[in-house]
Amino acid sequence: MSVLLKVSGVHAAYRAHAVLRDVSLDVHVGGVTALLGANGAGKTTLLRAISGAMVSVKGSIELDGRRIDGQSTDAIARLGVAHVPDGRGTFPGLTVEENLLVGGISRADRAGMRHDMKRMYELFPKLFEYRRTMAGLLSGGEQQMLAIARALMLKPELLMLDEPSFGLAPLIVKQIFDMLHEIKQEARLGILLVEQNARLALGIADLACVMEVGRITIAGSADALREDPRVRAAYLGLQ
Ligand SMILES: Nc1ncnc2c1ncn2[C@@H]1O[C@H](COP(=O)(O)OP(=O)(O)OP(=O)(O)O)[C@@H](O)[C@H]1O
Ligand SMILES: [Mg+2]
Repeated sequence: MSVLLKVSGVHAAYRAHAVLRDVSLDVHVGGVTALLGANGAGKTTLLRAISGAMVSVKGSIELDGRRIDGQSTDAIARLGVAHVPDGRGTFPGLTVEENLLVGGISRADRAGMRHDMKRMYELFPKLFEYRRTMAGLLSGGEQQMLAIARALMLKPELLMLDEPSFGLAPLIVKQIFDMLHEIKQEARLGILLVEQNARLALGIADLACVMEVGRITIAGSADALREDPRVRAAYLGLQ
């Protein structure tokens, strides 16, 4: 599989507070890379470094062979990187439909946007039902669906998800992951998935890595990590 995102030797810091040290990972075209790690390890910080938000970055980040590090958050989004942050980040005072339109705001192809919005409503019928409802009134699961649908309206090449299952009931989580699987096939999208539920994450991923205190300590195929005794003990609760 060809490489979509290549993170090589990345260091990232919040002003003087260094968080990431020499982080490298890949996401394949049409693949999912799962990023596991304890609270405070630096997973969210890595997503911020890739999307050009909040942290200073050293090292190299390439999308489709082009360097994106050092560019503005807007420019990186226009190049095809969509970031669904933890806590979701929809606009609670806008309707569902307005949130989807904002998601595609940098696109010029109106007809393509209408087509994609229709597709989002097919994938998430609840969003169609609630299209005129303020996003802030939706349930947690519906808001997560809206956040993902809004990110997809950008027609990204890379979708980054920060703990999409957080606080959601298992049935909703399953629906969201089934939909991600479908979208990824359809759009040849690469996904970088930060997820506390390691079983779920390794189930959908082809590559995976573990981050500890700002470094990648284990990396390989998702199958290899599932068999790794350290991952089994610390993240899967197995012997
Ligand atoms: N805005 C910020 N300013 C300064 N330090 C920050 C900021 N955000 C996070 N940090 C620090 O960076 C480190 C890594 O945090 P980060 O949020 O990336 O971890 P995480 O792996 O996503 O954790 P969690 O699983 O709890 O979401 C922590 O020590 C945290 O305190
Ligand atoms: Mg986090």
